[in-house]
Amino acid sequence: MMASATRTFPKGFLWGAATSAYQVEGSPLADGAGPSNWHRFCRTPGLVKGGETGDVACDHYNRWKEDIGWMKELGLTAYRFSISWSRVLPEGTGRVNEKGLDFYRRLVDALGEAGIEPNATLFHWDLPAALEDRGGWQNREIADWFAEYARVMFRALDGRVRMWATLNEPWVVSDGGYLHGVLAPGHRSIFETPLASHNLLRAHGAAVDVYRAEGKHRIGIVVNLEPKHPATRSPQDLAAARRADAYMNRQFLDPLLLGSYPEELAGIYGEAWPEFPAADFDAIRRPIDFVGVNYYSRSVVKHEPKAWPVAAGRVRQPGMHTEMDWEIYPDGLAEILLWVGERYGKVPLYVTENGAALADPEPVEGIVHDPVRVAYLADHLRAVRRAMDGGVDVRGYFAWSLLDNFEWSQGFSKRFGLIRVDYATQKRTPKASARYYTKVIQSNGAALDE
Ligand code: FCB
Repeated sequence: MMASATRTFPKGFLWGAATSAYQVEGSPLADGAGPSNWHRFCRTPGLVKGGETGDVACDHYNRWKEDIGWMKELGLTAYRFSISWSRVLPEGTGRVNEKGLDFYRRLVDALGEAGIEPNATLFHWDLPAALEDRGGWQNREIADWFAEYARVMFRALDGRVRMWATLNEPWVVSDGGYLHGVLAPGHRSIFETPLASHNLLRAHGAAVDVYRAEGKHRIGIVVNLEPKHPATRSPQDLAAARRADAYMNRQFLDPLLLGSYPEELAGIYGEAWPEFPAADFDAIRRPIDFVGVNYYSRSVVKHEPKAWPVAAGRVRQPGMHTEMDWEIYPDGLAEILLWVGERYGKVPLYVTENGAALADPEPVEGIVHDPVRVAYLADHLRAVRRAMDGGVDVRGYFAWSLLDNFEWSQGFSKRFGLIRVDYATQKRTPKASARYYTKVIQSNGAALDE
């Protein structure tokens, strides 16, 4: 191991943790908020494990002060959260609900007082139900709806929020929400999928344009990336890995940063692949200030004709997996960051999510012992450092998640938090990983070498 003064992270590197509105806030209809598509999804029997909902979640809507207290105790220098569109615009467009805005005003003011840099995501999967009724991501008008909402937020919060993300993981919205039906709105249509992806990208571009007119700081987007490794060197498996990579990684980054879709997509979607207006590509490729990378695992893929629609099947690897059955593979984080740098050039990067769902034990004397998460955190942060040594401009790291929370269709069964939440009492208890993270933050990364 190399131990020298250079092993600390650059000055100003952001040490954060992340959450999202529907997963932690609870009180989805409080103070005049409108319902979201996730509110509905959870109320459709059979779609969420145990019939659970985000009605209470971590009660962060009421406990935000206490939660900022935890952030301070952890020593975080940044906090990534998302805004619930339907709290602010109950019908998605038009009337603004000031009380909903006030919640976020209070939150970012208090973060500012605590010296914690707020990083706000405009869309982390909860779409106003009223817009779902108008076709949601299928409707091209959504780019205008999103731009309108973005303008409201920039005007209200840009004084405090200096780092904005338009969308969180558009691939998951399109693949999970429109192809496989496992996330809201729960559709299963290969014809809708590329339209959803495309309109997500157009909405992103429209919000960036609004930001250039309204905002003074930085705006980017958050994507989830995963190295796709071929199971063997056979031409079929190599081609399957390339398709999987085009579908998940390049489907979004190529149009955002290069201005066109990867050519593999036409083959993957077949007759569902539409002809997109040429002007859309300019509207999508707007200059952005950073890319946020969410990283959880890699996938090893083999040619599998029945795997719809990419014909790439996952080959489960030996070795440790999290409760999500995701392989723990820290090298993949360095690999994917280096890949972004090589393919797309010098765009500043943040790791905007990274973490592990584990079967944590009950707290003992005020702490949850989670040695696997401690190792996960350390190994992934070392991987970030390797990528930086390799020349990639990484400016911050956000652990997923600050709190155990509502893990979408998995309900409350998956615990990702640095801080445990007892859902019956809402009691927060730090985990050993939270204590370890504090040491890393206080030493600006030097503790990774201990
Ligand atoms: C990501 C999501 C986040 C959380 C983690 C585990 O895909 O952005 O909300 O669910 O996975």
